[in-house]
Amino acid sequence: MSKDKTYIIGNWKMNKNIHDSSMLVHKLASTIKVRRDVEVVLAPVTLALQAISLQINRRQFKLAAQNFYWRDEGAFTGEVSAYQLKGLVEYAIVGHSERRHIFGEIDKDIRSKVQAALRNDIKPILCVGETASERANNETKDVLADQILGGLANVASNEIKNVVIAYEPVWAIGTGNFASPEDAVAAARIIRSQIRHLYGEEISHKVPVLYGGSVSTDNASAYLNCIELDGLLIGGASLDSHQFSEIVKKAHNAGKKVDSK
Ligand code: PGA
Repeated sequence: MSKDKTYIIGNWKMNKNIHDSSMLVHKLASTIKVRRDVEVVLAPVTLALQAISLQINRRQFKLAAQNFYWRDEGAFTGEVSAYQLKGLVEYAIVGHSERRHIFGEIDKDIRSKVQAALRNDIKPILCVGETASERANNETKDVLADQILGGLANVASNEIKNVVIAYEPVWAIGTGNFASPEDAVAAARIIRSQIRHLYGEEISHKVPVLYGGSVSTDNASAYLNCIELDGLLIGGASLDSHQFSEIVKKAHNAGKKVDSK
């Protein structure tokens, strides 16, 4: 794990129109300090990306796309490509459980998206995580290993440094039932061991592994204090400027504690 940088990523999902998104950015800009050790990434609705990109200080905030199609151009009505997002966003969320479960994306789609992001200089944030029934059947390890392998197949070792992984147990997303820090750390270890298997020891320590699923101001520090976790992917709490700013502040404080260890 790197810990020289902590990632705090806000996934706004299909919430807020362009005006409301811009208002939220305005509030965040006045409360969040620019800090070298914390990478604050905002993922507003695709429609708002252009307006927000003109509004933000890129040292304070980076932008992420929530989704895109893996082909660069062509007859794909209604889709937006990584090629079209290039220059507008630094990151893109790929394989979020809502994409997998509501929109039926499978590992092959996710793999193609990871590659499309990388070829367009966008860092994919690859989300992996087990469902409640997979967890009940003790399948977490196999599910994570399969999703990592499925998402990263064809990613070369010189590209993997541009990938971020988020452990997002499906049962924890938007439910208030967050994973315990111990479970999140156990999952991060499984993810890292799979990366070690694919790319070797050294690289396995460099790929950031985040936790996501019902993160709030109350539980954020518990994850941020875990050396195995490099940050948080936040849904609901990222829509509230006070909560999100507070979590960014906690990330900075947790980073200072790790430094002095
Ligand atoms: P949540 O969403 O924080 O609302 O649980 C997390 C996510 O979907 O990334």
